[in-house]
Amino acid sequence: MKILVVGSGGREHAISKKLLESNSVEKVFCVPGNDGMVSDAIETYAISETDAKALVEFAKDKAVDWVIVGPEVPLLNGLVDDFDAAGIKAFGPSKQAALIEGSKDFAKQFMKKYDIPTAESESFTNYDDAYLYLQEKGVPIVIKADGLAAGKGVVVAFEMEEAVLALKDMMLDSKFGEASAKVVIEDFLDGEEFSLMAFVRGEKVYPMAIAQDHKRAYEGDKGPNTGGMGAYSPVPHIAQTIVDEAVKSILFPAAKGMVAENRSFSGILYAGLIVTKEGPKVIEFNARFGDPETQVVLPRLKSDFAKVIDDLLHDREPMLEWETGGVTLGVVLASAGYPEEYAKEKVITGLADVEAEVYHAGTKRAEEDDVFLSNGGRVLLVCATAESMVEAQAKLYKEMKKLENPNFFYRMDIGTKAIK
Ligand code: AMP
Ligand code: GLY
Repeated sequence: MKILVVGSGGREHAISKKLLESNSVEKVFCVPGNDGMVSDAIETYAISETDAKALVEFAKDKAVDWVIVGPEVPLLNGLVDDFDAAGIKAFGPSKQAALIEGSKDFAKQFMKKYDIPTAESESFTNYDDAYLYLQEKGVPIVIKADGLAAGKGVVVAFEMEEAVLALKDMMLDSKFGEASAKVVIEDFLDGEEFSLMAFVRGEKVYPMAIAQDHKRAYEGDKGPNTGGMGAYSPVPHIAQTIVDEAVKSILFPAAKGMVAENRSFSGILYAGLIVTKEGPKVIEFNARFGDPETQVVLPRLKSDFAKVIDDLLHDREPMLEWETGGVTLGVVLASAGYPEEYAKEKVITGLADVEAEVYHAGTKRAEEDDVFLSNGGRVLLVCATAESMVEAQAKLYKEMKKLENPNFFYRMDIGTKAIK
């Protein structure tokens, strides 16, 4: 098979590599991709992930068997529908189904309607009403932009001042444009977080191994929210009974509910969950593979990944077998300053010496030398598997040390929560 992966991050690098482990895959096109993922079998092309027309033409031209769409923006633009209309099979939700990620208000109303456990909330388009509700509720409280905001549209406020400021930023100063014209104000939930992703096809749900992301920029979960600074899988301190409960009370009803809403979901449904005293509750749904969760979860899939997707696309039962022993850990190397302003085009020193799996995200090859330069906030992720978290950390941080350079930073405590 020849497969097209749409996207350019570490997630798409991991997807492409995993597809290539399959005997049935001859070639993967990752578009636009990045320079760091180019290999004999992964080709990249400079077509924007939002240029649907050019992507459809490309898929036709290369006669790809099917497509996987990685990021949320093209999914919400309806890229899967565009491929469908052109008679090309694409794995990912339709525009209608992707709304479960694209509108937090939609997701909250959907959860209410189908009794899916989540924090209590109200949605607002009027600032004064939102302000009153905030005063009534008090802190801690969570303010969320309704639409996509690249993971930055959520403010967890412990002070009323902070909450009001967030509300003003979003509603009065249009911090996220249209995306924050509507906001969701949600009760604060306290507990351990984990990410539960599943392959979904209509009402059918096939859960993956769980993972834990580290959203805050700095050690000890301090600092601003980011796209994710590192992850690991599985998560030993989250009991299997909790995972089973989440599959039963959240994933199945969500898949069923989407069918009932005429928004039948096909693709990866990602539930960001928090374990409360009352059981697991939803923080957010995403309509795609998580990044960086994918980079630590997919390596644990023992089954043929390309066959799983091919089976799902042809309505056959997929075979899913996961690695049960050991732990897979991934740490992100980020540009100094991220998630705020950061410089690009800094040489990634030491990369050639790293003896572990590297998934490239924001990198590009320097024209003259045989080195890579940074080209984004999250630059790359280094990944390692070991018997225990202690061993995984030792193995991985030895490699991260080789990348140390004042232009970059990484968190030293990814996975520490899993050590008892
Ligand atoms: P999101 O972008 O929706 O994943 O939210 C970013 C982060 O904000 C999450 O990973 C949580 O740590 C935090 N968060 C979001 N909603 C809540 C909530 N209701 N209670 C507590 N923390 C939350
Ligand atoms: N790691 C969280 C996300 O992909 O949204």
